[in-house]
Amino acid sequence: MKVLVTGGLGFIGSHTVVELQNEGFEVVIIDNLSNADESVLKGIEAITGKQPIFEKLDLREKPSVVEFFKKHSDVSGVIHFAASKAVGESVENPLLYYENNINTLVYLLQELQQKPEANFIFSSSCTVYGQAELMPITENAPVQQAMSPYGNTKQIGEEIIVDVAKVTNINAILLRYFNPIGAHPTAELGELPIGVPQNLIPFITQTAVGLRKELSVFGSDYPTADGTCIRDYIHVVDLAKAHVVALKRLIDKKNTDKVETFNLGTGTGSSVLEVINAFEKVSGQKLNYKIVDRREGDVVEAFANTDKANDILGWKAKSTLEEALASAWKWEQKIRG
Ligand code: WQD
Repeated sequence: MKVLVTGGLGFIGSHTVVELQNEGFEVVIIDNLSNADESVLKGIEAITGKQPIFEKLDLREKPSVVEFFKKHSDVSGVIHFAASKAVGESVENPLLYYENNINTLVYLLQELQQKPEANFIFSSSCTVYGQAELMPITENAPVQQAMSPYGNTKQIGEEIIVDVAKVTNINAILLRYFNPIGAHPTAELGELPIGVPQNLIPFITQTAVGLRKELSVFGSDYPTADGTCIRDYIHVVDLAKAHVVALKRLIDKKNTDKVETFNLGTGTGSSVLEVINAFEKVSGQKLNYKIVDRREGDVVEAFANTDKANDILGWKAKSTLEEALASAWKWEQKIRG
């Protein structure tokens, strides 16, 4: 069973390729290397002993997509990670996001709909919930007005998939990630943010390793116990494993709907200050940080109700926050070592 992983050299994609190969799947990766490095292939091989097929290709070029599916006509499963994902950048440059995140999805689905069997796993995000009313967040929480063009592309992407699945043989699972963090325990794979990290954990590890002077904590006047925002930080390997479970569910035709949706989190919320304290514990060093103003567009709190993923999908996150932070720190020290 050949599986296409788009964005397979990226952070979550590469960890998912490892888990797919560990489960015996033949993997072909498409990546345009806009936010990933080809050397990630070596990390995947170091862990699994096998290098996946890699095709450098930009999914925005429809003829290339058509060509790819002619060449790899035996692909019957797709896990679609490739997308732009920086919230701030999407506000500055919305058309880059609508072209890259929507057109590419359409081109993939146009190819998949021609196949007798088409299983599609879509990388979505808890960002579709905006600031949910109730915690923990279930899959029935209303999808709210997107807080950014990036978030809007995830909402639109989900709607496109639902409409297409209704009238084609495509079966799909939408995976709504909470906050993916950490690195492979072997330190052969991890997060490689380009430039100044936008996300909390890579900024913390880069500060701890001396690459950044200090972490700015965006606001401590939120209505939470310690005043800082709460998120559900999930180990990237746990997240990767969920993709294999979801794909197998479709292959084995265990899905009860043409499109199913699952929240992927740990079910536990952690505040920014709790993350900092946990990091100081696992790293054994004080973190240099200061409290600054709130960041535009941040929600106060978001953590997952994991009942559906646990009971229906049959998957549960195993790693603790500390384990995830320790893996991120081990990776940072290795690449800056
Ligand atoms: C987490 C918390 C910040 C950086 C985003 C996207 C989401 C997904 C994951 C793609 C917040 C605080 C952060 C810093 C800080 N991306 N923070 N100082 O915003 O929850 O989610 O990344 O799929 O779609 O929205 O993650 O790591 O940016 O922030 O205080 O330097 O850390 O305010 O409370 P976020 P994050």
